[in-house]
Amino acid sequence: MGLCRGRARQDKGCLTARTVIVTSLMLIFVTATLLQAVYERRSLLRRISPKTTKVSPTIRNSSGLSEADFIAILKTLPKETNSSSRCTPPDLPLYSRFIRDRRPAVIPADLCSKRGSPNWLRVSQSRVQLLSQFAAANCSAEPVLRLDDHTSKFGSAQPIRNGSELPSLGFRASCRSPDGTKHSSVYYGTRRLRDSQLPPLRPGDAKRDSIIILGLDSLSRLESLRSLVNASSLLRTQLGALSLLQYNILGDGTPAALVPILTGTRESDMPEARRGFKGARHLDEVMQFIFHKLKELGYLTLYGEEGSSFGTFQLRFLGFKNEPADFYLRPVLQKQEALQSHHICIGNEVAPARMLTAIKDMFSMYPDRPKFAFSFFSSLSHESKDLTPMDAELTDFLKWFVSENLISNTTLILMSDHGQRLGPLRNSMQGKLEESLPLMTVALSRQLEARLPRARQTLATNRNRLTIPTDIHRTLLSIAGSDATAAAAADKFRSYSLIDEEVPETRGCSEAGIPAHWCSCLSSEKMQHPESEQLPVRAAQFAVAQMNLATAGFRNACTELRLDSISEADVSVASLELSQRERRTDAAFAYEVRIRSLTAAGYVTVRFGTVPNAGLYEATLRFALRNGSAIATGRALDFELIGEISRTNRYGSAANCIAHRMPSLRKFCFCRLAS
Ligand SMILES: *[C@@H]1O[C@H](CO)[C@@H](O)[C@H](O)[C@H]1NC(C)=O
Ligand SMILES: *[C@@H]1O[C@H](CO)[C@@H](O)[C@H](O)[C@H]1NC(C)=O
Ligand SMILES: *[C@@H]1O[C@H](CO)[C@@H](O)[C@H](O)[C@H]1NC(C)=O
Ligand SMILES: *[C@@H]1O[C@H](CO)[C@@H](O)[C@H](O)[C@H]1NC(C)=O
Ligand SMILES: *[C@@H]1O[C@H](CO)[C@@H](O)[C@H](O)[C@H]1NC(C)=O
Ligand SMILES: *[C@@H]1O[C@H](CO)[C@@H](O)[C@H](O)[C@H]1NC(C)=O
Ligand SMILES: *[C@@H]1O[C@H](CO)[C@@H](O)[C@H](O)[C@H]1NC(C)=O
Repeated sequence: MGLCRGRARQDKGCLTARTVIVTSLMLIFVTATLLQAVYERRSLLRRISPKTTKVSPTIRNSSGLSEADFIAILKTLPKETNSSSRCTPPDLPLYSRFIRDRRPAVIPADLCSKRGSPNWLRVSQSRVQLLSQFAAANCSAEPVLRLDDHTSKFGSAQPIRNGSELPSLGFRASCRSPDGTKHSSVYYGTRRLRDSQLPPLRPGDAKRDSIIILGLDSLSRLESLRSLVNASSLLRTQLGALSLLQYNILGDGTPAALVPILTGTRESDMPEARRGFKGARHLDEVMQFIFHKLKELGYLTLYGEEGSSFGTFQLRFLGFKNEPADFYLRPVLQKQEALQSHHICIGNEVAPARMLTAIKDMFSMYPDRPKFAFSFFSSLSHESKDLTPMDAELTDFLKWFVSENLISNTTLILMSDHGQRLGPLRNSMQGKLEESLPLMTVALSRQLEARLPRARQTLATNRNRLTIPTDIHRTLLSIAGSDATAAAAADKFRSYSLIDEEVPETRGCSEAGIPAHWCSCLSSEKMQHPESEQLPVRAAQFAVAQMNLATAGFRNACTELRLDSISEADVSVASLELSQRERRTDAAFAYEVRIRSLTAAGYVTVRFGTVPNAGLYEATLRFALRNGSAIATGRALDFELIGEISRTNRYGSAANCIAHRMPSLRKFCFCRLAS
């Protein structure tokens, strides 16, 4: 929360009173970064050998890297992808020892129900309900009144009883029970609209697909599989959802994702709407948001975003002049969050529960209208915390969605703006690539699949292609049955409706207008002469050295192995801008630095043979080629093993001597005595 979204460097003003907490968090992050190198080395060994070995393995292998070698290695690397070259997606592991060692502490799903004092009220289908144990309480409600996107106030109090219609979309309830105890909290929900407030419904409009978007701040696709285990699995198995595997961000921060999704315009192409800039105007005065377009098609709309103090459209921008949606939750969330004393709990409920209930109510109160709900949650994910309580809430919501059979006419999207920008993975290659590849999962409605029979197949094809947030805007318009071509025309980079058009296989970051800084595409090549080129030879030597290290404690049983041959090597490099980018945090804010000494970084997969065991192996290593550095000056080629080294031929009885003692080492062991 205290960290700024978007271009933090320009936004000193976005610090909150929580700076103290944030400062301590940052100290932890900085410490984590410093310790990272040490951990990397240790985890590398543990990955190979379950037993700790006395020898200290090293990742850095700088020995003997002369300037001539450095230049020779550099020359053999694939040229960086720029124009019209195909995009090779990185093959990132879901789990590795490195990742496992860096999981956040688990937050129990029932944290709030156990710790918080109970809420006395709930809101359901536009009515107030008093929980039975508080039946004797007197309550009054002060409606939340929006003045503009930055300020709202409370109106005058009026009494409310069990079953009262909501006095307004949101209100502050103040209750007192006969024994004198008090309760106060901000509640909100979908308030029944007057007929005059409902958008006109033309023939045919009622049959349009409804859309629910559940967004989580800072969640890569891979992280969603690690931390939203139940919700991801339910989406896949019961709703047939597809995740885009190479959905790439267009820039830093939340606006770079939400501006294009909600308007079709890139953040960089936006008309001036920034606070403090000359001629700046409100967003809805200079752009048409999807809420407005869909309203014209008869949709009822809801827009809610947690973290109102750093709102996507209010922190750096002027916000909306008029409420953009029929159910615009910003004013109530502002008041609620100002009173909220715990980062994820409101009384005994998890904060996201109320917004999810508002969406449910909208759907059950207006079954005969098309609806568009856009919700964005940040209470847990923005700080890279454990998401167990969110997984539980989302799973409940999805179970409700399934039980109401809403998939018949409602497309559901679970998404994020970007991967984690903080947290312990952030400066690793894995972390940087994951940051560029946020979650975008789409469950198409059955009605839509019937209307557009090729939609699902097209989406399935596109999940393997390079896709971007402007594509999502066009896709949403197509789901709503609106003409999406006008939106496309405004952008000099072509965008695609992912259910109607196949994204070309050749789309690369430059065609998509993805800055190299954020480009997750790798440039790949199979090496022509792997036996005689330095990178694969050194990589294979490193792998063999790690294998020998793993058996070192059993040297009386297993002989040392030597590299004999290299049959194949595939090399891929990430864009230099992405490789050199590192996030740092200081007491005030997160910022980026460029590590210029890093000359190239990527992955090399080598297939090699060893003697005397006639073993064949395959290993993937991350490499970094450095030209001098502050810690160890000089040229260096660093390796880190990714995942396990696989043995690709049989070892038969050659490893029997260790089979009982350390079965996991059989593939690396050649017994001295055939016994
Ligand atoms: C890629 O292309 C852009 C624009 O054409 C250019 O500015 C940039 O320098 C190129 N990058 C590389 C690595 O060639
Ligand atoms: C409030 O009303 C609901 C239904 O309208 C009812 O189920 C509940 O028992 C009532 N609560 C109290 C405290 O009377
Ligand atoms: C509730 O309101 C009624 C009528 O205003 C009042 O008579 C009663 O004392 C109040 N009860 C409590 C617990 O405040
Ligand atoms: C959408 O589907 C739900 C569940 O089947 C149904 O209750 C609702 O009436 C449908 N809405 C429209 C507009 O067809
Ligand atoms: C996920 O599902 C498993 C099995 O049903 C359950 O034990 C676990 O509590 C669930 N986790 C969450 C966060 O809901
Ligand atoms: C480091 O590189 C040297 C020279 O290329 C090689 O002999 C040695 O085995 C390597 N060390 C490791 C741990 O891979
Ligand atoms: C490596 O660093 C040296 C010294 O800073 C510099 O002269 C040289 O140009 C660099 N080489 C490359 C390929 O960046």
